[in-house]
Amino acid sequence: MELPIKQVRFLQTFERLYLKLRQSLDLLLLPFDSLYDLVCFYLHCRLSPFTPKSVKETYDLIFFSHSLEKGLSLPETRPLFGKNNISRILHLLRISEPDTVRNVGVQMAIGSIKEYLDFHQKLGVSDQFLIDLESEINSVSSRHKVSGNGGTKDVSNLELKIRDGVLKYEEFLLSRYSCRNFQKKLVPQELVTKIIHTAQQAPSQCNRQSARVHLYQEKDKIAQLLTLQGGSRGFADDVMNLLVISDDLNSWVARGERNQCYVDGGLFAMAILYSCHAYGIGSCPLNFSKTGRKEHEFKKVADIPSHERVVMLIAIGFPTNKVVAARSIRSPLDQVLKIH
Ligand SMILES: Cc1cc2nc3c(=O)[nH]c(=O)nc-3n(C[C@H](O)[C@H](O)[C@H](O)COP(=O)(O)O)c2cc1C
Repeated sequence: MELPIKQVRFLQTFERLYLKLRQSLDLLLLPFDSLYDLVCFYLHCRLSPFTPKSVKETYDLIFFSHSLEKGLSLPETRPLFGKNNISRILHLLRISEPDTVRNVGVQMAIGSIKEYLDFHQKLGVSDQFLIDLESEINSVSSRHKVSGNGGTKDVSNLELKIRDGVLKYEEFLLSRYSCRNFQKKLVPQELVTKIIHTAQQAPSQCNRQSARVHLYQEKDKIAQLLTLQGGSRGFADDVMNLLVISDDLNSWVARGERNQCYVDGGLFAMAILYSCHAYGIGSCPLNFSKTGRKEHEFKKVADIPSHERVVMLIAIGFPTNKVVAARSIRSPLDQVLKIH
């Protein structure tokens, strides 16, 4: 049975009003959800007094050990770099329980320090700091019964193999790495276009496709943006091509979607990383974990409109002939996969 036209109009108006009311209510209640985000972060972040000390130490160990790995993977590693971080790592190794064979941080720390010592030995640098470090790491290593699995890996010519289609799909996925060894060369814009076009296959909520990508190839601008980002020390000078991934807030409707920009923007960024890899272009994701004031400043310099949130940056470029990457070992699978 068909409804009379008047009744249909009434129902449509009612539906419109209901939707408007719901959306206004969503906007009104948004601060409560943001408060929920705030409380979660306050309670559970690294700074929180409620986060168990051992958990904090585990993450700290990974963080400091990775900074050592990164230092070793830079185009020009500075002799005796990272002394403060090494002291922190040693302190964490001393206080952590020796039953942490599964602790990825312990493996990374011991492996990285051993490579740090090898690096200096090859350079012929001798220093009391290195002598003390060697005896300390040997004792820590035997206490933990861990020989170490950290430092760097040689990934030279990987991009060539990929371009030649030598790798199977799984091998391709497993071979992606963060590149910090770039040639000082522009990536042609046609190639960037191809990379982004392929990455557009990334999924997005309701196919909203709110993620955006901004390309910078002007040296001064890149230098300014990387200084504001702050995580590319040691290789920033070689970055000739920089992507900024952002996400358009205009596309998000409900308060439940308040953080969706980071999910969709993150997925898009991941697709870009793989797409770069597929086209033989090295990439290094760069965090944009900034305060509101910093983001505002960054957007001004980058000429990004206020309705876009900055998700992260990606340095891209042709890798040098010899590429050394941080080993960045992965956690045991059972720490990550919980089967319910
Ligand atoms: C969101 C995000 C932010 C990152 N920020 C930085 C950064 O600021 N500087 C840097 O050198 N590497 C950065 N990285 C790279 C990580 O260190 C790297 O992905 C991790 O160690 C795993 O190594 P892999 O990418 O080589 O597999 C970032 C990665 C992600 C996903």
